[in-house]
Amino acid sequence: MKILAFGASTSKSSINQQFAHFAAHQFEGEINMIDLNDFEMPLFSVDKEKENGYPEEGHELLEVIENSDFLVISMTEHNGSYSAAFKNTLDWCSRINNDVFAGKPMLLISTSPGKMGAKFVLESALSRFPRHNANIIGHFSLPKFEDNFKDEIINEELRNEFNDLIENVKETLAKIK
Ligand SMILES: Cc1cc2nc3c(=O)[nH]c(=O)nc-3n(C[C@H](O)[C@H](O)[C@H](O)COP(=O)(O)O)c2cc1C
Repeated sequence: MKILAFGASTSKSSINQQFAHFAAHQFEGEINMIDLNDFEMPLFSVDKEKENGYPEEGHELLEVIENSDFLVISMTEHNGSYSAAFKNTLDWCSRINNDVFAGKPMLLISTSPGKMGAKFVLESALSRFPRHNANIIGHFSLPKFEDNFKDEIINEELRNEFNDLIENVKETLAKIK
């Protein structure tokens, strides 16, 4: 199984990149951790689209998704919503092909330093991504990353909840195969 994982952030020390990395490693397969910085695109505008067409990086990202079997995405929350970098990426990709997530099974997670664990952006993504052909088979939000994560989830209750989710996702993936 080819697993594609990333945090929806461009921060070099992204906690969502760390969480996506951890979550992806709960599954057996070939893990491709990508960094959204490697797919940086101009700030979207319909004028740039008209003048210059679509950035190559958008096509490349869609191809990476298309060539994967399972997606693990951890959502960064900025002011209750997507990080600007992720939204820009989604906007460009959705103009190239509205089916951005190509129907691939997806584990959608989020974390933040706060007690809400980036739940608002997770909720937005849960309701929006299916319109871009996401097949979300599990979701989880980890609050207070600094307190609850050190190489793994160290809060027992949250760890148990996460482990149950991973088992469910594995069962769903086995049925999809
Ligand atoms: C502009 C800005 C807005 C933020 N807004 C929120 C927010 O609405 N909710 C939240 O939980 N954290 C918020 N944070 C804190 C981020 O969750 C925190 O910086 C986190 O590390 C971002 O994820 P990343 O490390 O994956 O980039 C905000 C941070 C910034 C810089």
